[in-house]
Amino acid sequence: MKTEAEILRSVPLFAELNPEALALLASRLRRRKLPGGTPVVYKGDPSGALYLIASGRVKVHQATTSGDEVILDVKGPGDFFGEMSLLDGQPRSADVSTLETSELLLLGGDDLRETIHQQPAVAWTLLRLLSQRLREQNEQAEMLMTRDVAGRVADRLLRLAKSQGTLQPDGKSLQLEVRLTQSDIAALVGATRERVSRALSAFRTSGAIAWNKETGCWLIKKPEVLAKRAER
Ligand code: CMP
Repeated sequence: MKTEAEILRSVPLFAELNPEALALLASRLRRRKLPGGTPVVYKGDPSGALYLIASGRVKVHQATTSGDEVILDVKGPGDFFGEMSLLDGQPRSADVSTLETSELLLLGGDDLRETIHQQPAVAWTLLRLLSQRLREQNEQAEMLMTRDVAGRVADRLLRLAKSQGTLQPDGKSLQLEVRLTQSDIAALVGATRERVSRALSAFRTSGAIAWNKETGCWLIKKPEVLAKRAER
């Protein structure tokens, strides 16, 4: 089993820390192992800890007024969540639940604040990562306004492959490392499950994607086909 310090070294947020600062931070972490489907953070709750993902995956989601689920993001090893309410003092902004068995490291708000004060490099990295997130949000907002469901599905699968996928030995196809149901994909692109199912079927028939029965994950066999479809 990896030590806290080893895990911290693979978390981009703390990549700039020197070994002493890293060891100090590691000594303040708490570990939690949770099965898939476990709520970790509830929207509206008071802020608490910052969560670092050592292994596994989580979804950031919220319910619409009509009760449908919207998935804002999927996060995996090396990512973090729970920083927003710590930074602005407001309640939790969204729900976060595990998608699979996940090991999380919790850092208390005071410890995060102390680290940021003592290590300005962490603040810069945090700002960079939050800017990156805002940039992605802008792109997704544009997608939502200008693309049809198939275009949005193509775009979302490619984005997920970039953040939660691995390039296969053929040097081209991409294996998504996260199990996503058709309802999950619908919640990611803001469409009904039926329309998403139709788009996925068309991509499967054309050979652009395949369902990996063993892992339960999607395989993108022809990323260029999805990229072209996401353009219009
Ligand atoms: P916090 O508001 O403390 O608790 C919920 C967390 O979900 C939030 O911090 C962020 O870490 C994360 N989060 C909220 N909205 C988004 C989003 N649009 N994209 C990615 N992560 C988000």
